[in-house]
Amino acid sequence: MALLLLFSYYNLLCVPSFATASSTNLASALLKWKFSLDKQSQSALSSWVGTNPCQNNWTGIGCSNGSERVVTSIIVQHVNLTGTLDDLDTWSLRDLETFDLSFNLLYGSIPSSIGNMSNLKYLALATNNFSGEIPFEIGMLTSLTVLYLNTNTLTGHIPDSTGNLTNLTSLNLYENRLNGRIPNSIGC
Ligand SMILES: *[C@@H]1O[C@H](CO)[C@@H](O)[C@H](O)[C@H]1NC(C)=O
Ligand SMILES: *[C@@H]1O[C@H](CO)[C@@H](O)[C@H](O)[C@H]1NC(C)=O
Ligand SMILES: *[C@@H]1O[C@H](CO)[C@@H](O)[C@H](O)[C@H]1NC(C)=O
Ligand SMILES: *[C@@H]1O[C@H](CO)[C@@H](O)[C@H](O)[C@H]1NC(C)=O
Ligand SMILES: *[C@@H]1O[C@H](CO)[C@@H](O)[C@H](O)[C@H]1NC(C)=O
Ligand SMILES: *[C@@H]1O[C@H](CO)[C@@H](O)[C@H](O)[C@H]1NC(C)=O
Ligand SMILES: *[C@@H]1O[C@H](CO)[C@@H](O)[C@H](O)[C@H]1NC(C)=O
Repeated sequence: MALLLLFSYYNLLCVPSFATASSTNLASALLKWKFSLDKQSQSALSSWVGTNPCQNNWTGIGCSNGSERVVTSIIVQHVNLTGTLDDLDTWSLRDLETFDLSFNLLYGSIPSSIGNMSNLKYLALATNNFSGEIPFEIGMLTSLTVLYLNTNTLTGHIPDSTGNLTNLTSLNLYENRLNGRIPNSIGC
């Protein structure tokens, strides 16, 4: 019988590294996603206007310092964002290092196209209402050090591909309906 995975939290010590990111279509990709969300969510993101998230101080957007400021992080928590990630153009977000939409009301599946965001070090979609299986493509995010998908309604097995996340230091899948076990190869 499959082991019911109720709690799994790993915290090891590793030092994250930094890399540069660039963003040309990022603003329009984010606006497209914003307008796929409900009205209340759009008003929570009312500062998201224009074409330059860094100069225009978009809520939740973090940028690198230096002459050419580029978006490195998106952290939007606790604002009841309601909608899906279906319209998220992950290819335009491929240089992001931090993506955190925890503590919202997002639903639907975690798209397999998340595999495009291969520079992510920190991915948190915790405490939403995501369902379906964790996509195999999550294993393409080999820079990840932190992965929090806890407190959703995810089902199925933890994909074997997560074994490729060799830089992962912190993993939380608590409070889902997952079966199976964590691949042995996870860790640093
Ligand atoms: C954005 O924030 C910076 C620093 O807080 C400030 O100097 C700048 O005027 C702001 N820009 C806009 C368009 O609000
Ligand atoms: C950019 O500089 C500000 C102010 O000095 C600092 O708070 C912020 O952490 C820096 N961001 C990055 C990505 O280094
Ligand atoms: C989110 O929704 C809850 C429940 O309706 C409400 O209590 C809370 O104030 C909302 N938060 C925001 C930031 O709108
Ligand atoms: C990357 O994004 C493109 C366009 O959004 C999509 O067609 C493709 O399947 C994605 N690739 C991966 C590996 O997810
Ligand atoms: C979460 O999704 C499930 C179906 O997947 C639904 O039954 C439930 O009402 C949703 N909960 C919230 C808080 O939206
Ligand atoms: C993970 O690594 C295995 C080999 O260990 C490989 O077969 C598989 O395609 C990889 N998966 C991903 C998502 O990169
Ligand atoms: C994993 O971490 C090591 C040490 O910090 C770093 O050199 C390497 O580039 C990282 N690998 C990826 C795929 O980010």
